[in-house]
Amino acid sequence: MPMRVTVDTFRDMKKAGEKIAMLTAYDYPTAALVDAAGVHGILVGDSLGMIMLGYESTIPVTMQDMIHHTKAVARAAKNALVVADMPFMSYQVSQEEALRNAGRLIQEAGASAVKLEGGRVMAPVVRRLVEVGIPVMGHIGLTPQWINELGSYKVQGKTPEEAERLFQDALALQEAGAFSIVLECIPAPVAKRITEAVDVPTIGIGSGRDCDGQIQVITDLLGLTEKPPKHARQYASLASEIKKALERFVQDVQT
Ligand code: KIV
Repeated sequence: MPMRVTVDTFRDMKKAGEKIAMLTAYDYPTAALVDAAGVHGILVGDSLGMIMLGYESTIPVTMQDMIHHTKAVARAAKNALVVADMPFMSYQVSQEEALRNAGRLIQEAGASAVKLEGGRVMAPVVRRLVEVGIPVMGHIGLTPQWINELGSYKVQGKTPEEAERLFQDALALQEAGAFSIVLECIPAPVAKRITEAVDVPTIGIGSGRDCDGQIQVITDLLGLTEKPPKHARQYASLASEIKKALERFVQDVQT
């Protein structure tokens, strides 16, 4: 029987040179399938704002949304590590608020770790959460909660100065105690340099093959996203399958 994955498993997998597979999930049946497939970590990403709730960005996602969806995923995950995203403004205002909100995702919703966006600027918050026993996954590069500042969802770290800033961000997160770091949409050589420099596993999305693991948004992988990002790899075409099944149902009812 597969063992329950913990944050220690993530660290051990990096040491052993084993790659880590992560996917997002937002509901019970999908999370059960992801878990049964042997995926090591499930992220209840705040991407649920766009994927599940039809918003244009992750900005409107609330703690209530995250708790609701994380509860469903946590009930389904028997082995995978469940990581819940901290939504916009749930950790930026003060360390106290960050503590309270991260605590809710663990205690009420059943996550085993939280993820938050930002590098050096968020290191003190990461340190405080880790001090009280809340494992934190960092997230640098393209950080969608910064969309109003960034202007668009584009690759980050293209100039040597930006790449150096990302490198320093990764070191700061590791130093603050993050157990893992998501590298989103950064050039592959920059991701490789960071991955080689830190002891904690890096989980890439659109950041090349040299990260210690990869994460994808489940609907991109299954062919359920209308316009998936360029870096997404599609493993099935479920949208057309589902549409065909639904049309057959309508036809059956009518005949
Ligand atoms: O919210 C999310 O799904 C994420 C992943 C894309 C890393 O942060």
